[in-house]
Amino acid sequence: MIIAIDGPAAAGKGTLSRLIAEHYGFHHLDTGLTYRAAAKALIDAGLPLNDEDVAQKVAGEVELADLDRTVLSKHEIGEAASKIAVMPAVRRALVEAQRSFSKRSPGTVLDGRDIGTVVCPDAPVKFYVTASTEVRARRRYDEIVAGGAPAEYDAIFADVKKRDERDMGRDDSPLKPADDAHLLDTSEMSIEAAFRAARDIIDAALKKE
Ligand code: C5P
Repeated sequence: MIIAIDGPAAAGKGTLSRLIAEHYGFHHLDTGLTYRAAAKALIDAGLPLNDEDVAQKVAGEVELADLDRTVLSKHEIGEAASKIAVMPAVRRALVEAQRSFSKRSPGTVLDGRDIGTVVCPDAPVKFYVTASTEVRARRRYDEIVAGGAPAEYDAIFADVKKRDERDMGRDDSPLKPADDAHLLDTSEMSIEAAFRAARDIIDAALKKE
């Protein structure tokens, strides 16, 4: 069983994916972390973010077992990740690792931007989790402030908007819902309610397996 979860930044797909993986005892991969790990490796090595050959090499060395959310969650790393995510060679390297992860037993939950459309187009259950830009920027702002760092809402709103444009507007694997994805808008829906809705859909799909 593969569960594909896509959506824009801060829509709640990470939390939802973790809840689903825990509930069903499935392996979870936050594919955003793979792009973040490649971006951080480039930054740490003082390498440019606009050289596709260099970025591809670094992406090929990303180890899924080493992905550390705490280290990679910084807002700036997310920005850098979305810059290298437009490069087809970087995507090829990371998608290969993501696809092989998706085959783990007894099941997997992968979340990202292109899981239902490109990485696992045959996944039997797909969700597209979204929320308004305002709600997502507010969540990101609250997260940063809760972590004790200074934040400015307007700047975060602008960043979220810019990241959406980059992720939705790129030529290779743009962010968009798969034709057969279930839409979950969390603007006014709690994550618990989204989880309940997702569970009903997954339970129905499991019965059919
Ligand atoms: O989800 P997260 O914010 O960690 O992702 C960071 C960036 O990585 C995204 O803005 C996007 O550009 C890229 N990404 C992607 N495809 C995925 C997951 C993330 O292009 N499947």
